[in-house]
Amino acid sequence: MAKMWAGRTSGETDRIADDFNSSIGFDSRMYRQDITGSIAHAKMLAKTGIITDADAAELTEGLETILADLESGRLQIDPSCEDIHMFVEQVLTERIGDTGKKLHTARSRNDQVALDIRMYLRDEEKELIALLKELAEVLADTAEKNCGAVMPGYTHLQRAQPILFSHHILAYAMMILRDISRISDAKERMNLSPIGSCAFAGTTYHTDRAFEAELLGFDSITQNSIDGVSDRDFCLELLGALSILMMHLSRLSEEIVLWTSWEFKFVELSDSYTTGSSIMPQKKNSDMAELIRGKTGRVYGDLMAMLTMLKGLPLAYNKDMQEDKESVFDAVDTVKMCLKVMTPMLSTMKILPENMRKAANEGFINATDLADYLVKKGMPFRSAYKISGSIVAECIRRGCVLDTFPLADYRAYSELIGDDIYSEINIDHCVETRISAGGTSSGSVRTQIAWVRAQLEKES
Ligand code: ARG
Repeated sequence: MAKMWAGRTSGETDRIADDFNSSIGFDSRMYRQDITGSIAHAKMLAKTGIITDADAAELTEGLETILADLESGRLQIDPSCEDIHMFVEQVLTERIGDTGKKLHTARSRNDQVALDIRMYLRDEEKELIALLKELAEVLADTAEKNCGAVMPGYTHLQRAQPILFSHHILAYAMMILRDISRISDAKERMNLSPIGSCAFAGTTYHTDRAFEAELLGFDSITQNSIDGVSDRDFCLELLGALSILMMHLSRLSEEIVLWTSWEFKFVELSDSYTTGSSIMPQKKNSDMAELIRGKTGRVYGDLMAMLTMLKGLPLAYNKDMQEDKESVFDAVDTVKMCLKVMTPMLSTMKILPENMRKAANEGFINATDLADYLVKKGMPFRSAYKISGSIVAECIRRGCVLDTFPLADYRAYSELIGDDIYSEINIDHCVETRISAGGTSSGSVRTQIAWVRAQLEKES
């Protein structure tokens, strides 16, 4: 079939070149945004007297019917069309005749596609934020429900100091709150309308870009028509935010994989979110968490692909930019899927506090508290640190722990040590005395839970 742009050329292209050039396979998902944008365009053309009110009414009705027919399945997307913009215009013209040909006055596919992506992504951002809020709520609920569980905190994956499991989980809630704020921030720069930039240089018609932007729910218009069609920062910003978000999900996934191993056994996942092995009957694998960790690389790849695609492009529009959609759509789809699995996987996860406590009792994680005890009795911290280290070494030699090391032996290291040492280095005491803001005591943790909930409340 001859192309809509036939004129300068015959419009006859090679079949493989046609397939290569086409984007309808992935941009047809923007049909709603494309049609909504076109209806606003028709209204703007009528308002400014570029077309008549009757033409605009005919265009609007034609477009609304196409939208309804697509939604109901009465009309199928034609995969042989070059892109969604051409498809809609072609069907419109087939259905309403010559008036359909007036729609593309004072616009170009360059500003049209930029408009559609912005509209599509701002809808997706709304959904992403809702999913992130659900996850943050589940994290806060998990923290609240399990406030009594003490576990070893780690640095270098070595047992370091005792903490509340809730404290650890809340660290992820903080990350998710930042993800929400990053996406909302990206949304501000995304919600500007490029339509009316036309091919790139603007137009000779007296259009009203602000009116069209307002009809479409944009905060304002892009200020330079060349930038309007060539800017894809809004995609990059979203991809950047999504990459950081995936990094957070990946770190949490890695911990879940560790925690569900026999070596830790801190948590157990619901059967709904695990798989078995085809050969080893005892296996219960955390495949969902592993897949989330794995898909993180894919989202980083989407960001890299887009940055690389854009880096050498001269202004303004270049066909390379058609590649933008596959990256950003893939990232959004992947992140949404990961969130839809992560949230219920967490809400159904069983915590095993006895195993956490057992691990907390074994790793000399109260050695800092022994040193702090000596400091409180008047010893400089560095000397206290040294003595505590020597006592730990002696305990390891004897096969005991600080809690069972005899008082007389303690006193051989320092006369400052009295029998109050045992209550001072008791694991629960160690946790409860870390009362600093943001710390691990149950009081500090409750403040953090309340803070997370307040932030979520503000977001709604
Ligand atoms: N399908 C194209 C894209 O996704 C639409 C814009 C085409 N513009 C052009 N001048 N060929 O980027």
